Amino acid sequence: MAERKPDDQSTGGPPLRPLANDPHPFAHPAEHEFAAFLDFYRIRWQYEPTTFPLRWEENRPTEMFSPDFYLPEQDLYVELTTMKQSLVTRKNRKVRELRELYPDVNVILIYRKNYHELLSRFGYGSVHITSLRPDQIERVLLSAAEIQERVTELGAEISRDYAGKSIVLVGVLKGITFYLADLARAITRPMVIEYLQLSHDVERGGVHISTDINIDIRDQHVLLVEDIVNTGVSMDFVLRNLSERHPASLKVCTLLDKEERRLVPVDVGYVGFTIPNEFVVGYGLDYRELYRNLPFICVLKREVYESDEPALELRDEAASSTS
Ligand code: IMP
Ligand code: MG
Repeated sequence: MAERKPDDQSTGGPPLRPLANDPHPFAHPAEHEFAAFLDFYRIRWQYEPTTFPLRWEENRPTEMFSPDFYLPEQDLYVELTTMKQSLVTRKNRKVRELRELYPDVNVILIYRKNYHELLSRFGYGSVHITSLRPDQIERVLLSAAEIQERVTELGAEISRDYAGKSIVLVGVLKGITFYLADLARAITRPMVIEYLQLSHDVERGGVHISTDINIDIRDQHVLLVEDIVNTGVSMDFVLRNLSERHPASLKVCTLLDKEERRLVPVDVGYVGFTIPNEFVVGYGLDYRELYRNLPFICVLKREVYESDEPALELRDEAASSTS
């Protein structure tokens, strides 16, 4: 079999890396389909990067096995198979032998069209939990692994910048639920965690604090944690309010920045990702209080945003399957 090189796009890369659309020498259409599936969920992959010898004669390998894909973020080899029984039997044997000979290698055999089953293994089960169908997702912007990588980087950067200091992390509820939990654990400085909640007054216009922090922040180093800075109106309001309490320093660490939408200039010290002007949900961000528990950040199809269903309609499995 011709030697194949691991795919370049899987060796890290900048935030919001483009998807790999370039033609790839797949041996089978199912492989092409699977690669497109992985690209959609922004799961990194390599095509046949490793060949494992399975049998030898006088130290020379006589049988080899190159699993179709390797997913570095999951440390998992994937062999695809069609429903043809003869193929399944042969591939099952190879996978079994691979496991016996290389016990540290994780490998699975999956059936064509059963790709979504894989997602639950990657913590993507909540697509289902949120009563969202995979086909209602327009585009995955950031995978769980991409988010985790960046949040870890931010934590390291903050830990360096605040060397010798302790921090008051102030999270703006509720979008920061998961982000703050992950960020706080990536910061290696002493800290306290406080929350505040904003209310947007539709009638009188403007923003006010509906739930305030519980401590005096005078002379403290305050790091305000936000999920997303959009127009900047909310952030500008909170920054003015907190700075009147005379903290020693006050900085912002937002996960997402929709720069294009800015109306009020705000000094955002730390930004996870700059994203295009699209409404996103997941990893804490909601649309009408829903979809916060998606592990990735995505844009939903217009039909979801335009639907007239009441907000926060939590249906159970039985109810949703009949609708
Ligand atoms: P701003 O005052 O316009 O900057 O809006 C910031 C707030 O609006 C954020 O804290 C979010 O709660 C919400 N928001 C803005 N854009 C999005 C989005 O794309 N998805 C979910 N919430 C958003
Ligand atoms: Mg919100």
